[in-house]
This record gives sequence, structure tokens and C-alpha cells, in this order.
Amino acid sequence: MPSSSQEWWKSAVVYQVYPRSFAESADAPGPTLGVGTLAGITARLDHLSWLGVDALWLSPVFRSPMADFGYDVSDFCDIDPTFGTLADFDRLLAQAHARGIKVILDWVPNHTSDQHPWFQESRRDRTNPKADWYVWRDEPANNWLASFPKGEPAWQFDEQRGQYYLRCFLKEQPDLNWDNPDVEAAMHDTLRFWLDRGVDGFRMDVVHLLGKALTHDDPPICRERGWGHVPYNDQPATHERLRNIRRVLDSYAGDRTSVGEVYLLDEAAMADYYGTGDELHLSFNFRFLWAPFEPGELATRIRRTIDLLRERGAWPTWVLSNHDVPRHRQRYGGDEMLARMAAIMLLTLPGTPFMYQGEELGLLDAVIPPERVVDPGLRDRCRAPIPWDSSPLHGWVAEPWLPFAEEAGSRNVAAQLADDGSMLHFYRRLLALRRATPALHADIDPVHFQLLDHSPDLLAWVRSSGSDRWFTYVNPSPRQHPAGSLRGATIVIATDPALEGTVVNSELPGRAAFVARRDGTM
Ligand code: GLC
Repeated sequence: MPSSSQEWWKSAVVYQVYPRSFAESADAPGPTLGVGTLAGITARLDHLSWLGVDALWLSPVFRSPMADFGYDVSDFCDIDPTFGTLADFDRLLAQAHARGIKVILDWVPNHTSDQHPWFQESRRDRTNPKADWYVWRDEPANNWLASFPKGEPAWQFDEQRGQYYLRCFLKEQPDLNWDNPDVEAAMHDTLRFWLDRGVDGFRMDVVHLLGKALTHDDPPICRERGWGHVPYNDQPATHERLRNIRRVLDSYAGDRTSVGEVYLLDEAAMADYYGTGDELHLSFNFRFLWAPFEPGELATRIRRTIDLLRERGAWPTWVLSNHDVPRHRQRYGGDEMLARMAAIMLLTLPGTPFMYQGEELGLLDAVIPPERVVDPGLRDRCRAPIPWDSSPLHGWVAEPWLPFAEEAGSRNVAAQLADDGSMLHFYRRLLALRRATPALHADIDPVHFQLLDHSPDLLAWVRSSGSDRWFTYVNPSPRQHPAGSLRGATIVIATDPALEGTVVNSELPGRAAFVARRDGTM
């Protein structure tokens, strides 16, 4: 079991719920049939508890016109009617807490919806009390591009006010002006609103954008590759703002946490967002997410992450899939065996793993016919609804807002529950092992965690707690390897069930991954 002095978010496995696509409740269907609701999530909590996750991150459920499916917020302190009511949220929170499951919300501090009353007021003229709550200019201040739709400039002309406003995403998502202390204070109040209601923390959307050097143009590579604005937004002001946010969280009892979406593809830049323990509690690691499933490259990413975070006394996160990127099984070529290897890696690395709903089923992305594309950022494929059973609607009340993944007929929750050898059971066993094993919660210092340098073909490490040593071995290649320090370890969970319970002898198998234990006294 995790040591009682360790903060909960260090030993937790966080499960991302994308509420529109998670579940409907037949007893309390929402106003938009085929779109998931809070009551739907509540109705499935027993399943999540059975699976063994420790915390849920809910993608945004605030009031929103849904131009970016909730990441365009028109009221940070209310629930969108699509998902239910504040009372539904309170019920979900209480029911999750009753099962020992924490809940973190998705806070979107960089921008609001253009329908937010703040923006409605701000765009009216240049003298209203909120005139300076967004980033207004007579001319575009730089050459930045919006993240999507691809190729659109980040500066949007507004007829009403006769000026341009900054929008790093859709034109319906104007950027807030964090240089204005009133904006910062108002956004802190939105955190307090949910902290007072009892939430356990926040995933913080694009927090690297909070401070901006508006006078810097982006380099040509951004335009060539169609990247949104990224390179120059890691500003000193960003870090000061994060320290202020941290103070708000720290003023509450109960280890309220933060995990930042720091979309900087460099581990050193990412590590800066932990500050000296006074900024984010956790930061997503996108360089690792995008790494190909190649042991040499994965080992490099893991080593670099751990080295940088060790120095700072900071705690890593590991994530492979989310609602913005192709699912990792898809990225790795579709082979379920590789997805099982990835699960062994994800759930035994030192740090906090984040799972994305459906990866425990081994879902692939859905095929979306052109007439059903709804996301201006073209991310519908990974947002397909969860198939709960084999019936035509797969447990939904009505045809969902997006098509199911193609394998939904066989690859659904009910079918996998009935099959002990399924991916779902595989995740459950790994989660249970992780929860029960102190070494899998141990620190990232060199005493408790070491990468083993066997060969570029395979990824292996050891974690320890006292004399108890746990090895993780991941080898997607067909080649065998000398057992080295793994000799004598007993395999506990493996991609090949026949290996479980066997002792590693002189050879390590090809195309296999496992977790193995060796008591140091042996
Ligand atoms: C983040 C979210 C993404 C959203 C964007 C703008 O990257 O993960 O879904 O579209 O921010 O809020």
C-alpha cells in the first residue's frame, strides 16, 4: 500500500473521462440524447471502482456553447445543461468520494467562450469596465497562428469593437488578458468555487500560455508545419501566475492538486513548470506521449524526465492517450500486444499515470465519415463513445453524437468483463498489483528506481522498497536477451499468460513484457 505520508496524487492512477462520450444513464437521460451526462458517469462509478482507478479527471463540464466541446466556457461556475446540474455534480462527487475516488476538474484559464458575459461586455467598446479583460489591439501584434482551424491567424477582427482580439484557438475562444490583475483574481475565484464544493484538484488547460510575449513573432517553422503558437510563450509571468494559483490551492486542506497541460515538447521546459515545489504539482509530459514505441527512445525519454525531475524534487506523470491525440494503440500500429506492453510500462513507471477512457478496452480510433465530422480541430476519432455492451446502441440511450470504434461489437465492456483474458481484465490486474505493491509507489531517487541498460532493443527497470525488488521488462522485438540482473525473478503479470508464475532463467523472451519480483534476500 502507498505510504500514508505520501500525497494521494503521487500514488494515484488518474482516469480521464471525456463526459460527452463516457455514458448516458437510462434512468436520467440528459436533454441531448446520445451525449453523455454526469448522471451517466455516476451510474458507472462501480465499474471504475472495480477497475481500480483512484481519481477521475473530467474534461470540461461547465456551461459552454460547445464550439470546442466544453473548452469554450461561458460560465466557469455552472454545469452545462447537456451534462446536468450542479446537484448532479454534487451527487457524482459524493458518490465518487464514497468509493475512495478523487475528482479533478478541467480548468480552462487561457480563454473563455465568446459568449461569456465578460467577453460580451469587453467587446462592446473600448471604455467598458471589462475593456481590458481580453487582449485587444488595433493591428495584429505578431504573426501567430491559431492552433486550429489550421492556418488561421491568431488575431481576429471584431466588427463591434473595431479591433483585433487574440485567440490562440477558435475565434469563439478569445484569450483572457492575464496581465490584468482583475482577470487573475476573477479566475482564482472560479477555482475557489469548485474547491469550496470539495473537488480534489484541477487539470489546467494550456497553462504554458498564461504569460505571453506578444512582441515576438513565431519562427517560419510554425507556419510551415501549421503549428499553433507555441515557442515563445514560456514567460517569467507564466511562472508567477502559476505560483499565485498554487497559493490558492494550498490555502485549502486536503492536498488539492494541479496537473498542467504544458504543451512544450521539451522535458527541460516542462520541468520548469514545477517551480521549486511552488508551481504545478504535476505536469503532463508530451515528449514521452509522442515517442514511438521503441525501447531505446522510450528509455531516453524516461531517463531525461527522471533526471530533470529528481533534481527538483518533482514528481513525473506518464500519459499515452487523451482526447486530443490518436489513441496509442492506433499510433503503435494497432497490435493489441503492443498496447498490453504499453500498459505494463505505463502502470509500473515511477510517477503518476493517466489513462484515457477506453484504453482499458484497447480501443482503436473510430472511423468518422466526412458528414459526421464535428470537431474543428479534427479530433473526433479518439473521442468515440465507450461501448458498454454488444447491443446495437452499446448501452447508450440513443445513437451517440459520434460513431463507435469499428470493433465495438466485440470490444466492449460487457464482452471483456466476461473474458478473463481480455484487455480490461489485464488493466484491472495491473492496477490491483500497483495498488498493493509499495515498491510501485516508491520514490524516483536512484535507491528506489534504476533503468537497466541491457540493449537498445529492450526497456527494463527495477524499483525497490526495502529488500523487495520489482522489475519491469518490455521487449517488442523478437530477439531474446541474456537475463542479467533479472535472473531469478518470478514473473507476476505478463503479456503472455504462460510466463506468469515462472522464474526468469538465463534468457529473457522476445516480443514480451512482464512485471517480475525478486526478494533481495534471496
Ligand atoms: C487543450 C485541450 C483541447 C482544447 C484546447 C483549447 O489543448 O486539451 O481539447 O481544444 O486546449 O482549450
